[in-house]
This record gives sequence, structure tokens and C-alpha cells, in this order.
Amino acid sequence: MTKGERLYEGKAKIVYITDDPDLLLIHFKDDATAFNGQKKGTISDKGVLNARISAALFRYLAEHGVANHFVDLPSEREMVARRLSIVPLEVVVRNVAAGSLAKRLGLAEGTRLARTVLEFYYKRDDLGDPLVNEYHIRALDLATPEEVAQLAATSLRVNDLLAAHLKPRRLELIDFKLEFGRTRDGQILLGDEISPDTCRFWDTETGERLDKDRFRRDLGGVEEAYQEVWRRIAG
Ligand code: TMP
Repeated sequence: MTKGERLYEGKAKIVYITDDPDLLLIHFKDDATAFNGQKKGTISDKGVLNARISAALFRYLAEHGVANHFVDLPSEREMVARRLSIVPLEVVVRNVAAGSLAKRLGLAEGTRLARTVLEFYYKRDDLGDPLVNEYHIRALDLATPEEVAQLAATSLRVNDLLAAHLKPRRLELIDFKLEFGRTRDGQILLGDEISPDTCRFWDTETGERLDKDRFRRDLGGVEEAYQEVWRRIAG
């Protein structure tokens, strides 16, 4: 497989086509943004760590029956993945109130939710990724009702699998964001990344934040947190 033209550059990744029409090469950058790109910075070695962490978690999920786009990690910050046409939704799963949910509903951060919360956001940077429900998704034809049901069920299964995998590694899964895409034959696969950029991980004993909130909120120790997550996931 050889790397071809650059297809797309996002805030944290660059995507290249390859000589195989069904495969992409995803380059993980050290660039970090927050608040829809208003805050910018770099986190040294973030790309390497997020590529490794994502690969390990995608492998674990595949072993437990959650089909995803991960194929291989041929170099430090490059991932080979199945080519998907992206479903323009972000699926957020929450176990504990934090971030925008804590703010929106007036809950103290760290409050355990009586039941898991699942949310959809419309992927539209120009609108700041607004929260949407199944009526909006239907009205805008973003996904079929069957696809929405599949996204929800898969995301809840990922929550159960990841929370169980991370707990013995002393990481509490507070919340996370997933993205999905369609293969050429219409199969829905989990895509994007699963990393401290897209999840909140708190130390199970101390509650210390080991994720991108250290960057978003200027808490310091950003690089160290990403390294610590990798150390715990690598075992
Ligand atoms: P939120 O509390 O800011 O809505 O974030 C919920 C989860 O989604 C959190 O684990 C971080 C992740 N997330 C992303 O991956 N990308 C984003 O653009 C945002 C806003 C959140």
C-alpha cells in the first residue's frame, strides 16, 4: 500500500488516499484546538500517543465484536483505516456529568448520572456542532431511523466495553465522543479516534483529569496526562 494525495486536513489529523480505494492513511498531528478552534496549541507527542491509544482501543473493540475502521499502525503517527463516508453526527455517551452537560443542566461536575445519557451533535463546524435529536436527524436526512438505532446501540456497547477495560487500569470513563461512517456497501463502521482528545478519563482514586480538559482549562501537565493514559492502557 502506498500513500497518495492528501484528501482532507482537520484540526488534529490529515487524511491521505492510498493506492487501495478502500483504505486511507490517517496522520495524527500534535495540534490541539478547543472551543471550536478558538483556542489553539500543540501538545508534544500527542499524535503518537493518540494513534497508539486509538489503535489499542480499536483492536480491543474489534476483538469484542464492535466492527471499526482500524486496520494497522504502520508507523508512529500513521494509521491505516477503512475508507468511510462519514455520517455527519457525533455520538456522545456520558456516565458522569461533566463539560457541556454539567453546564447545560446545572449539575456539579462529577455527579454520577442515574442512567447513561446518549446525545447526538450535528457535525457542522460553522454552526459549532449543535445538539440535535432524532427528529432533527430525520428532518435533515442525516441518517435513517435504523442507522440511528444502530449508532445508539453500538455506542452504548462501546461504553460498556471501554468502561470495563479501563477500570482495572485505574481510568474512569466519564464521557466520550464517537463518529461513524458507511462503507461502499452501506455497512456502518465505527471510525475516527478514541483518545484523550475525545474521551474524559479521570483517575479512579484521585479523580485527577487525564485528558484534553487539561489543555482546554489550562490545568498544566497536559503531555504527562496523555503519556500516563498510554502507560495504563499499554499495561
Ligand atoms: P462536552 O462535555 O464538551 O460536550 O464533551 C463531551 C465529550 O465529547 C468529551 O469526552 C469530549 C468529547 N468531545 C470531542 O471529542 N470533540 C468535541 O468537539 C467536543 C466538544 C467534545
